[in-house]
Amino acid sequence: MISPSRRPRRLRQSDAVRRQVREVRVHPNDLILPLFVREGVSEPIDISSMPGVQQHSLDSLRRAVDEAAGLGVGGVMLFGVPETRDAVGSGATDPNGILNVAAGVLADEFGDAIVVQTDLCLDEFTDHGHCGVLDAAGRVDNDATLERYDAMAIAQADAGAAMLGMSGMMDGQVASARAALDAAGHTDVAIVAYSAKYASAFYGPFREAVDSQLQGDRRTYQLDPANRREGMREALIDIDEGADVVMVKPAGSYLDVLADVAAESIVPVWAYQVSGEYAMIEAAAANGWIDRDRAIAESITSIRRAGADAVLTYYASELARTLNLQA
Ligand code: PBG
Repeated sequence: MISPSRRPRRLRQSDAVRRQVREVRVHPNDLILPLFVREGVSEPIDISSMPGVQQHSLDSLRRAVDEAAGLGVGGVMLFGVPETRDAVGSGATDPNGILNVAAGVLADEFGDAIVVQTDLCLDEFTDHGHCGVLDAAGRVDNDATLERYDAMAIAQADAGAAMLGMSGMMDGQVASARAALDAAGHTDVAIVAYSAKYASAFYGPFREAVDSQLQGDRRTYQLDPANRREGMREALIDIDEGADVVMVKPAGSYLDVLADVAAESIVPVWAYQVSGEYAMIEAAAANGWIDRDRAIAESITSIRRAGADAVLTYYASELARTLNLQA
């Protein structure tokens, strides 16, 4: 037996040494909290497939954002759950629609303390549940949808949102919304492009969270999970169209795509730990099968390690609290 001359374990021998040589860290500012706000309710409503996550009333939403801002969470991403829906998603562009109202309330109250962002997509607002409007044959009409997105961008910017999360996966959506925002004088409002958004089973609990009306699937606009190169292509197109931030989603099963995009991007790269990823951790932990706190920290550290500058996660406030206690 020869004594090993290379001993990587030297750097793992104590917590102090491990901390010193750690390659990536998670800071509360790197976290973005997705939040659901429901029209016409005065009390928050639990989402059964996402234990601990709720559809907020305007009041409970304000409390959740106040808490997140106090913990140093970097931003919030708002999703609206409207009372009524129609074919073109009118509630999305109505200044009195729940998402726009909520964005306005939060921007006024917390705009300097936390970045108020809104989901820019029609699926919560359409009675068919698709992310765009449909043509006569019932297919999602790309270019007709762009007009709706442009109007939605202006409505959200008018309300006070600082960054708009374009999650609809229509071709040309970033260029179109950018031009519409600029023409309306909203040159300061940024676009977060959900560039590589895959048609994923891991969105399951989100459909309950927003009371989705979708029948069928989104495979004609979201990416095929088998395609790595295409994720990069989508990110490059969005950067070229003027995206301020690009995103990969879901995160955990797409770390290769995330690493690719992070290696090439000239803008910040974010990743979204989606509802199904959250639900899996919660379910396994509830059964005593995994250590919940460690699984949360490890999953988000891994997303950072793969290249995400920031992570959208339903754990944002909880993790920020833990990080603040450790600091
Ligand atoms: C679409 C949208 C979805 C999610 C975020 N934005 C659902 C979908 O594309 O079906 C999923 C987020 C999650 O699962 O946590 N507006």
